[in-house]
Amino acid sequence: MSGLAPAQRSNGQPTLSERADALEEHMMHELEHIVTRSVLFGMADGKIQMESGPALMAKNPGKYMLMGEDPRLPKMPEKPTLIDYFRCRFASTSHLLQSATHALKGGHREKVVLACLLHDIAVVSFIRCDHGYWGAQMIEPYVDEEVSWAVKAHQALRFFPDESTGYKYPDMYVKLFGPDYQPEPYIVEEYKRARNHKHYMTARLICVNDIYSFDPNAKVSLDDFVDIIGRNFKQPKEGLGLDSSPSAHMWRTMLWPSRFL
Ligand SMILES: [Fe+2]
Ligand SMILES: [Fe+2]
Repeated sequence: MSGLAPAQRSNGQPTLSERADALEEHMMHELEHIVTRSVLFGMADGKIQMESGPALMAKNPGKYMLMGEDPRLPKMPEKPTLIDYFRCRFASTSHLLQSATHALKGGHREKVVLACLLHDIAVVSFIRCDHGYWGAQMIEPYVDEEVSWAVKAHQALRFFPDESTGYKYPDMYVKLFGPDYQPEPYIVEEYKRARNHKHYMTARLICVNDIYSFDPNAKVSLDDFVDIIGRNFKQPKEGLGLDSSPSAHMWRTMLWPSRFL
């Protein structure tokens, strides 16, 4: 049960959070297997907790732990590609497609366009905090180091203006974080290191092409980038995530986010 529930219990009715918990419990019973939540998922609700295997088995007699795909999620092909993750695992792709379209129309090199297309994949599929670092590691084995380095560095660069490229501190950030927000020292240090890096401009171009004001009417399509992905993203023959690269486990976690182990 949640510790921080809006606990206005009137006349013995369950609270909102109790109802949510009960619904979740009910949905779990409908499934053939026992679905588990990683601790991180609960932390976002302010809870640090996990249920042990035996406790879950006791609550779900006759069922085994889920050790494969989650039937509630879109089915992924046997050998998934980056495009499949775009279609079946990314919660939203319009920001990425708009940024990449902007870069494409600006006549930038394919590596810059790809960096724009992938710069926020961690946000839309995985983890928000430090998304540049996560995103960079996810793609590192499959792209030119210029692309993954730029995705990592945009995490820091987006907080610092660069007049020479016309990049200002985004108004959106003032709205999102308040006027007094200051990036942490590790971000400041990352920015200083990035300034002198040979791929600085690629990372900066991610920021320049980052579309902060989402336009719901912009026409964008993943089809425009299939060839660029084909030429610049090394698709493993076993399927993305089913290979043995240093980041394959991250993709597998997206394939099977509710596996017990
Ligand atoms: Fe970003
Ligand atoms: Fe972005």
